Amino acid sequence: MTILITGAAGFIGANFVLDWLAQSDEPVVNLDKLTYAGNLETLASLQDDARHTFVQGDIGDAELVARLLAQHQPRAVLNFAAESHVDRSIHSPEDFIQTNIVGTFRLLEAVRAYWGGLPEDAKSAFRFLHVSTDEVYGSLGATDPAFTETHRYEPNSPYSASKAASDHLVRAYHHTYGLPVLTTNCSNNYGPYHFPEKLIPLMIVNALAGKPLPVYGDGMQVRDWLYVKDHCSAIRRVLDAGRPGEVYNIGGWNEKPNIEIVHTVCALLDELRPKPDANSYSAQISYVKDRPGHDRRYAIDASKIERELGWKPAETFESGIRKTVQWYLANPEWVAHVQSGAYRDWVQTQYAATAEA
Ligand code: NAD
Ligand code: DAU
Repeated sequence: MTILITGAAGFIGANFVLDWLAQSDEPVVNLDKLTYAGNLETLASLQDDARHTFVQGDIGDAELVARLLAQHQPRAVLNFAAESHVDRSIHSPEDFIQTNIVGTFRLLEAVRAYWGGLPEDAKSAFRFLHVSTDEVYGSLGATDPAFTETHRYEPNSPYSASKAASDHLVRAYHHTYGLPVLTTNCSNNYGPYHFPEKLIPLMIVNALAGKPLPVYGDGMQVRDWLYVKDHCSAIRRVLDAGRPGEVYNIGGWNEKPNIEIVHTVCALLDELRPKPDANSYSAQISYVKDRPGHDRRYAIDASKIERELGWKPAETFESGIRKTVQWYLANPEWVAHVQSGAYRDWVQTQYAATAEA
């Protein structure tokens, strides 16, 4: 048995692979294009591990995907690959359309052809799990109930619109062709190996570097935070027990305004790495121009996955954010290589021997 995971050199996919292989010997084929967000240094501990096969490539490369499916005969395909950063989607949406929409379509086509040729028992056991986001549901008012799986789609950024389109394609492949798909829509993740363009890691690395901590607008936008390893355990649970064709919202019931997140990060750094002059890192907070079209509030109602699959997060926000800050303090080399761009050489210098493509 094997699973094929796309985008597993990124933040969540790499955490997923590390957790998967810590708990199981089932091999993983990792197909990742290695955009700026793909960092094989995160998977350095698997360098000599025969259970992990890395292939550099695009989910939109139908020929490559078909070859990998034929060669490895996976029992499941998990699609993490995406362009994921909202700010980048505002500046240059093209890559988001290509990967999140066209790429997902090509991947679905290759998977449909492979799945159609499987023997009946393998065909009914096969799963295509699509990793998506709460942003497809749009923005909530301050007192609106949290997003359920039946909330209407109202994406507001090129990123969320492209993810919404991919969700619709996945749904259509189940409805039209019977492909056994599972879709998960998760809230904001945080934790180890998070690229420091996103709020929490950016605040940690900027604080330590003595740089401003840029808070968009009034800082009162609300996000619902989930420790990345809890997202990974939820995906494993959905893969094991989710019903084909169903959607599962994943979240940790941790709504917080951005400014509170930034103050929490500063307070933890004040405690764990106090500044020599004893001033708080919060003095570096700087309010900046707001993100265009900025969604005000996201909140996930995670009762379906708890009720139907018995999944609950293991971390509270307090325990997860402390672990996260501690991880960044303990791993300055990973951060330095991301900042210098040296992580992009990793595939050539360290990984070439085990890379397939
Ligand atoms: P990320 O940007 O850190 O990683 C994305 C990975 O996909 C990278 O390794 C990149 O190289 C790879 N990739 C990009 N285009 C590709 C292509 N065409 N073919 C193959 N690989 C490609 O993203 P992430 O934060 O790990 O998010 C993973 C998934 O989870 C995404 O689908 C995202 O929409 C979803 N998601 C993220 C969050 C979050 O808070 N980060 C929350 C909910 C859902
Ligand atoms: O909700 C799930 C989504 O969470 C995922 O689908 C996306 O892939 C992921 O990037 C994330 O999107 P956000 O836009 O919510 O994450 P980001 O870390 O970019 O921003 C979090 C909040 O912090 C948002 O309200 C914007 C704000 N922000 C962000 C940055 C980078 C700031 O105030 N300052 C910043 O410098």
